[in-house]
Amino acid sequence: MQTLNDIRSTFLSYFDKQGHSVQPSSPLVPRNDPTLMFANSGMVQFKNLFTGLETRPYSRATTAQKCVRAGGKHNDLDNVGYTARHHTFFEMMGNFSFGDYFKADAIAFAWELITKELGIPAERLYVTVYHTDDEAAEIWKKVAGLPEERIIRIATDDNFWMMGATGPCGPCSEIFYDHGDHIWGGPPGSPDEDGDRFVEIWNLVFMQYEQFEDGTRRELAAQSIDTGMGIERVAALLQGTNDNYATDLMRNLIEASAHASSTDPDGPGKTHHRVIADHLRSTSFLIADGVMPSNDGRGYVLRRIMRRAMRHAHLLGAKDPLMYQLVPALVSQMGAAYPELGQAQSLITETLHQEETRFKQTLERGLKLLDDEVGNLSAGANLPGEAAFKLYDTFGFPLDLTQDALREKGLAVDTDGFDAAMAEQKAKARAAWSGSGEAADATIWFDVADKHGTTDFLGYETETAEGQIVALIEGGAMVPSSKDGNDVQIALNQSPFYAESGGQVGDTGIIRTDTGVARISDTRKTAGVFIHFGKVTEGEITEGQAAVLEVDHNRRTSIRANHSATHLLHEALRAALGDHVAQRGSLNAADRLRFDFSHGKALSPEELSQVEREVNTYIRQNAAVETRIMTPDDARAIGAQALFGEKYGDEVRVVSMGHQEGSGKGSDKTTYSLELCGGTHVRQTGDIGAFALLGDSASSAGVRRIEALTGDEALSWLRGQQSALAGVADVLKTSAADVPDRVRALMDERRSLANEVAQLRRDLAMSGGGGDASEAIEVNGIKFLAQVLTGITGKDLPGLVDEHKSRLGSGAVLLIADTGGKAAIAAGVTDDLKGKLSAVDILRAAVAELGGKGGGGRPDMAQGGGPSADNADAAIAAATAILKG
Ligand code: ALA
Repeated sequence: MQTLNDIRSTFLSYFDKQGHSVQPSSPLVPRNDPTLMFANSGMVQFKNLFTGLETRPYSRATTAQKCVRAGGKHNDLDNVGYTARHHTFFEMMGNFSFGDYFKADAIAFAWELITKELGIPAERLYVTVYHTDDEAAEIWKKVAGLPEERIIRIATDDNFWMMGATGPCGPCSEIFYDHGDHIWGGPPGSPDEDGDRFVEIWNLVFMQYEQFEDGTRRELAAQSIDTGMGIERVAALLQGTNDNYATDLMRNLIEASAHASSTDPDGPGKTHHRVIADHLRSTSFLIADGVMPSNDGRGYVLRRIMRRAMRHAHLLGAKDPLMYQLVPALVSQMGAAYPELGQAQSLITETLHQEETRFKQTLERGLKLLDDEVGNLSAGANLPGEAAFKLYDTFGFPLDLTQDALREKGLAVDTDGFDAAMAEQKAKARAAWSGSGEAADATIWFDVADKHGTTDFLGYETETAEGQIVALIEGGAMVPSSKDGNDVQIALNQSPFYAESGGQVGDTGIIRTDTGVARISDTRKTAGVFIHFGKVTEGEITEGQAAVLEVDHNRRTSIRANHSATHLLHEALRAALGDHVAQRGSLNAADRLRFDFSHGKALSPEELSQVEREVNTYIRQNAAVETRIMTPDDARAIGAQALFGEKYGDEVRVVSMGHQEGSGKGSDKTTYSLELCGGTHVRQTGDIGAFALLGDSASSAGVRRIEALTGDEALSWLRGQQSALAGVADVLKTSAADVPDRVRALMDERRSLANEVAQLRRDLAMSGGGGDASEAIEVNGIKFLAQVLTGITGKDLPGLVDEHKSRLGSGAVLLIADTGGKAAIAAGVTDDLKGKLSAVDILRAAVAELGGKGGGGRPDMAQGGGPSADNADAAIAAATAILKG
């Protein structure tokens, strides 16, 4: 038997031998297409090679491409489980020529591979060509020797392949396999073509044109080839069945499902097993490619598929979560061809388990409500939209799950009623928002959200992506386009730009369209719409255009490092100071981080260095940073740090990093840091590089603030500190290590020199250099010494006054120090004159003349100052007048 894995290898190695470069599948979330929800064919990753926008070192390639058709235009979800060939996930094998070979070789390769390498009997094969494509028909005749009646001309779109509304396209030729007359159906183009007998197995597209938005087409510079073979179909026919679910790979998954639920794989639960096997593949591959269950965008498609499978598991009678138990079976089937599956195995298992556990709580009650509602329906009536909405809103039933459940009973949902109920809920949310006093222009973003949905954030996985411009706003009003030089706010259906939240600043970068460029200086969000603030710097950008979005890589790298370091810092603070440490605010910018936390007193130098050391220890541990989605309650139950008083939605991202010393890897108990966080983080803690703590200060009562740096910023700060110290050491002519001792010695020396200078000044003043006690005059029978001194400071005056007083024995002293621009004044009166004369009065009289105010002291000693000593004579005269009485 040729297993599906054998067929994949045969295909790839055949084209390898024909000079094709074997390329890995691109991720399911397209990086280079703004409109596609998921990769839906092999050519998606090569789109720009066909149009000539991009070149690569090869002109022939071959791939096995992961595809999901469960959202957007291509949506097979509803039929999965009930038909032989619908899948939400499938693999498309393809060979591609970029301006290299064309029809003749493409047909020859396909024929050789199918009939020789895979051994499919030629007599079972039919081909179609586009009705005008005589060239292809001729080649088929020549290469395959097919008779005229097995080359069928088709005039419909079935034989003109287009990737989407725009992009590369061309006529195609499809190869069909005839399963035999025991199955009903007719060849393509016949009235019975919808039957299962003739199955398309390979589509060869002759890429000749590029289709534009306005409906026009241009001939591609280089004619190319894009082919797509559904590997599940080929496996089916080679394994003698026409049912994809009977092939080895799908059968193994079905048996795993039967085993885990202890049921018969072919019994009454057959359909359930098929749904589970299919959905296991799409959900696991989506999770491996970074999609997480959520309530909008791609995450909601994932959730819908998961929950649909969960209902089928429930119908099998599974009491416990089932899907997550099947992951090992899938990894053993497909892990070799798709290593990302094995790498993400624990994430997939955990995400499925969480979602199953959570949905189980409402699934049964929801199904009971559904039964009751159905019981009340009059014959032929649809389930009312409000009931379907209640199931959606309260019990987490995606609409298609309800529809799937009703399908078995031959019933449908009133979808108009459902949409109306949904619109009403949105209107309420909007009213609540407008009432909350948020920015007045927020309503415009609600309009955008209503019309185009919220923005899908791609930035956890990538910093470059394409998006479609859904709205442009200038000066608070919607505009159709924005020109060079204009300030603009841009909304897109999806974006890798992080919108400011949770302390992490918004991203900056570039947005380019075919006609213009905008420089983005900030990104914020309102009503789930990411608003890119910027300026058009070239040409013009227009609503509806596809745009290439590039986040400033270096800036984002630094922001990630700072954000991850903040988590490590938080934990290190708790370890050093205690569990009372809780986050009160944070800033994760490109050049620094700031963390405010509850703690009553300043950190000691030892605590600061312990915290800094611990953060660096976990950086060096270089552990993977892991993100999981769970309910806030589950997150708290495993000990994740949440923001006090913060409102969380029904699900949160939990970011974990680091392993406690000496403990095992991975389990929650041993994880070092576990926090609820929507921000972007480094992949490994080692990516933070280094952590330098700048210091701690008071932020508000009971709240401390730490500022710190990481990576290059930390290193250049440390280098700056070091060179400043080296500069000091150089000046001091000592080593850096001896600087503190040397500075201490200098300070001591300075202090004693200062004392010495003061003493010398006093001595000088007393010894006549600045005035002599013998100059005392008698006023009103009182000895009065008044002097103007230079070279001493105000601080020296009281000591001098005291000395003069004791020399006089009895009398009054007035000293005015001219301290270079200012005057310091002191007056003294010996104790025997107390009661008669006050130093305060003498002082005030002098101060007033010197342009000063006030001054004071005791009756025996008073001090004051003035702006200048110029009027010293007048001051002395005024003091003398006081003595005269
Ligand atoms: N791109 C072509 C298809 O998907 C081959 O059918």
